[in-house]
Amino acid sequence: MGLFRFFASTILVLFLLSSFSFHSTDAFDPLDPNGNITIKWDVISWAPDGYVAVVTMYNFQQYRHIQAPGWSLGWTWAKKEVIWTMMGGQTTEQGDCSKYKGNIPHCCKKDPTVVDMLPGTPYNQQIANCCKGGVINSWGQDPANAVSSFQISVGAAGTTNKTVRVPKNFTLKAPGPGYTCGPAKIVKPTKFVSADGRRVTQAMMTWNVTCTYSQFLAQKTPTCCVSLSSFYNDTIVPCPTCTCGCQSNGTQRGSCVDFIAVQKRHT
Ligand SMILES: *[C@@H]1O[C@H](CO)[C@@H](O)[C@H](O)[C@H]1NC(C)=O
Ligand SMILES: *[C@@H]1O[C@H](CO)[C@@H](O)[C@H](O)[C@H]1NC(C)=O
Ligand SMILES: *[C@@H]1O[C@H](CO)[C@@H](O)[C@H](O)[C@H]1NC(C)=O
Ligand SMILES: *[C@@H]1O[C@H](CO)[C@@H](O)[C@H](O)[C@H]1NC(C)=O
Ligand SMILES: *[C@@H]1O[C@H](CO)[C@@H](O)[C@H](O)[C@H]1NC(C)=O
Ligand SMILES: *[C@@H]1O[C@H](CO)[C@@H](O)[C@H](O)[C@H]1NC(C)=O
Repeated sequence: MGLFRFFASTILVLFLLSSFSFHSTDAFDPLDPNGNITIKWDVISWAPDGYVAVVTMYNFQQYRHIQAPGWSLGWTWAKKEVIWTMMGGQTTEQGDCSKYKGNIPHCCKKDPTVVDMLPGTPYNQQIANCCKGGVINSWGQDPANAVSSFQISVGAAGTTNKTVRVPKNFTLKAPGPGYTCGPAKIVKPTKFVSADGRRVTQAMMTWNVTCTYSQFLAQKTPTCCVSLSSFYNDTIVPCPTCTCGCQSNGTQRGSCVDFIAVQKRHT
């Protein structure tokens, strides 16, 4: 009986440890555990061979801005979709459009990467919330500038909400690594309220992608490593790589995380 208990508790501890380490390396930012960047695709109209969508990124983070040279958003098309045209954004490469004659798509790559346009883009190529060179402030500090949008006209795609295939394998660089994006989820179509509040329209179809930041992806060892030893010698007490990065709510680790968070907010 005692032996059984010992094994049961060992297994429980191992299980807890493994689920903990999975979460901490997956995507977790101890300074802003609920922060995320949400990317919303609103299909605003159907076209003869696809659809037109407005893609909006919301930086729902407390303090992490996306700084110059700005975000770049990548994905993999589910079928053989192409991008006919874009407004307020562009792909970094056109890819091989040699099978198209006459009307040449903006991008034929299976895995396009989109970047924002720069300030000063001609008005006829702009849409609302575009053209800031990919810089987005955080929701916690500047909600008015925490959004970035572009419009995309997709061809060789589904033309109804039953035949559209959502893009896969989203990647967000902002501008470096650190973000992990989940799969696109089809959600209730967004409702848009007119400026005078007298009419509500809605998207044909909407899907959301959520990306979260992880210090572990951005860099192997957090730069804020603090040795909690009074021996100023890392051979005797190794500098703990986890001091500022662990989700664990141990007293010492917790207080370190809070301390850094306070410092960040003040700088
Ligand atoms: C992303 O953050 C927003 C704002 O804090 C929150 O409402 C939303 O639920 C979060 N999304 C996910 C998938 O955590
Ligand atoms: C997803 O994207 C990453 C990075 O762009 C790439 O290495 C990987 O092969 C892609 N996976 C699929 C299934 O397309
Ligand atoms: C999708 O994202 C938008 C923008 O953040 C949000 O308003 C909406 O609630 C999200 N939908 C779901 C189901 O998370
Ligand atoms: C697709 O469109 C039909 C009506 O044409 C609607 O009833 C259904 O809710 C839509 N599905 C989604 C996922 O938007
Ligand atoms: C740290 O301690 C080790 C072992 O006692 C010693 O060899 C080494 O010189 C010390 N390093 C410093 C920087 O004091
Ligand atoms: C950590 O634990 C302390 C007390 O044990 C609690 O007050 C605090 O809210 C916890 N923090 C988190 C992020 O869970």
